[in-house]
Amino acid sequence: MTSPEPGFGIYVHWPFCAAKCPYCDFNSHVRHTPVDQPRFARALATELAHFAERVPGRTVTSIFFGGGTPSLMEAATVAGVLDAVGRHWSVAPDVEVTLEANPGSAEATRFIGYRAAGVNRLSLGVQALNDRDLKRLGRIHDVAEARGAIELARRTFPRLSFDLIYARPEQTVADWEGELKVALDLAADHLSVYQLTIEEETRFADLFKAGKLIVPDADLGADLYEATHRVLDAAGLPAYEISNHAAPGAECRHNLVYWRYGEYVGVGAGAHGRLVHGEGRHATATEKNPEKWLRLVEAHGHGLVADDVLTLEEQGDEYLLMGLRLKEGIDLGRWEEISGRVLDPKRLADLTETGLVETVEDAGRRRVRATLAGFEVLDAVVADLAA
Ligand SMILES: C[S@@+](CC[C@H](N)C(=O)[O-])C[C@H]1O[C@@H](n2cnc3c(N)ncnc32)[C@H](O)[C@@H]1O
Ligand code: SF4
Repeated sequence: MTSPEPGFGIYVHWPFCAAKCPYCDFNSHVRHTPVDQPRFARALATELAHFAERVPGRTVTSIFFGGGTPSLMEAATVAGVLDAVGRHWSVAPDVEVTLEANPGSAEATRFIGYRAAGVNRLSLGVQALNDRDLKRLGRIHDVAEARGAIELARRTFPRLSFDLIYARPEQTVADWEGELKVALDLAADHLSVYQLTIEEETRFADLFKAGKLIVPDADLGADLYEATHRVLDAAGLPAYEISNHAAPGAECRHNLVYWRYGEYVGVGAGAHGRLVHGEGRHATATEKNPEKWLRLVEAHGHGLVADDVLTLEEQGDEYLLMGLRLKEGIDLGRWEEISGRVLDPKRLADLTETGLVETVEDAGRRRVRATLAGFEVLDAVVADLAA
């Protein structure tokens, strides 16, 4: 259970989508004229060069193309980015290269090109396995396309994961259990299962406020969450993170870099990074608007709009926030080193007594981790421990 070295990851944000889903507040934009992909690929390579000067000599253990919809990237754009990574850093022989894909048939035509470029893990945004709910979620694919994309992805990539969203309008526990079983029949060894969140400034938020969108209440949400764990645990895909389930050894290494509070470069519009150099751990963020980001990179070599050195307290809070999402929890000694503080024993005892966290010994190190009940109120647990 001891966390190995977190690794060094590269996150590449592709900020375009074919259509905007009504629940989504990610940095994704719809463009009605073609995106100049060679120009974006050059800018991504330029921004990578900027970061390579700041954190040279690392070995890249994971690369993640996230979005938006990275499966709108041409294979040549993906290959250009991977070449640039290889020019600047050494790349681990078992590097994990993930690309997020939407299940539309147009996207699937590019799978073989991605594999040839070096992508070895696909993360498919399936979201639901019934057409009524896909429509309600505003998705532009149907179940038949999702099944087709899953099959093709299984034939093309060594590793496959897919995303599902639950706590949808009118969803019952029995519906959801049935759908999870279908998913398990199709699934490879990794599933990301997210509870629908009503995000501010989305169409769903407007509908929700107007009383036109009814989603499961907190009690039903908790029942759906517990059902998720029950069904996936029994199928050999336990949660290793609050929303991520995998067979042992099939965890997403890139996401583990974030949750184990490792170092990662973030390039592309609206990407975040955490880099250790000079005065300490830097939190970086780039311009969110894709065209503005492009012009910034072309003028200055990077599109950074934030580059802050984190205080020890901020680092401690971030490690708690990220690490407690993991089933393995946080290494208490590491938290104390990072934050320069000692965790208040009374708070820890109170949270333990109420069954929200537990402390375990692992290879001589003390770890604190959330229980299943703690996962359900994780924000409150983190706030309590960080106070
Ligand atoms: C930003 S998307 C990128 C992947 C791809 N564009 C897609 O949608 O399939 C990553 C994942 O976040 C999840 N997601 C986005 N907004 C959400 C929300 N409001 N509630 C729950 N999950 C959400 C979806 O499951 C989605 O697959
Ligand atoms: S959920 Fe995915 S496809 Fe939909 S708008 Fe967000 S990033 Fe784009």
